[in-house]
Amino acid sequence: MNLNKEIYQVCGVDELIKSTCYGWETTINNRLLQCLLIYHQDKVFSYLNRCPHTGVNLDWLPHQFLDSHNEFIQCATHGALFMIDDGLCVHGPCLGKKLKQIKNKLIDNNIYLIL
Ligand code: FES
Repeated sequence: MNLNKEIYQVCGVDELIKSTCYGWETTINNRLLQCLLIYHQDKVFSYLNRCPHTGVNLDWLPHQFLDSHNEFIQCATHGALFMIDDGLCVHGPCLGKKLKQIKNKLIDNNIYLIL
């Protein structure tokens, strides 16, 4: 098992504040890895872009991950709602399951993911 973590630059903090959420992807060892970032209550939250219900992507349009009130992350397929701060599903077919959290780090006004 490879325990080495890599750090990837994603975007500027100002960019994320402007858009509130952002979808990002990269390829690691020939595998596509898709993530989402959300700026919420002065913090950056990041998760794998994969619904725990069926494994599909969550976004309904590119970079669109939130419900109409910007209160929850919402899966576009069956409408599951997830808490922004810990990824817990509070409504929908995967109730009680969580999105996979990805560690992030802010360095010089840029956001990095640790994968
Ligand atoms: S695939 Fe996300 S709620 Fe069903």
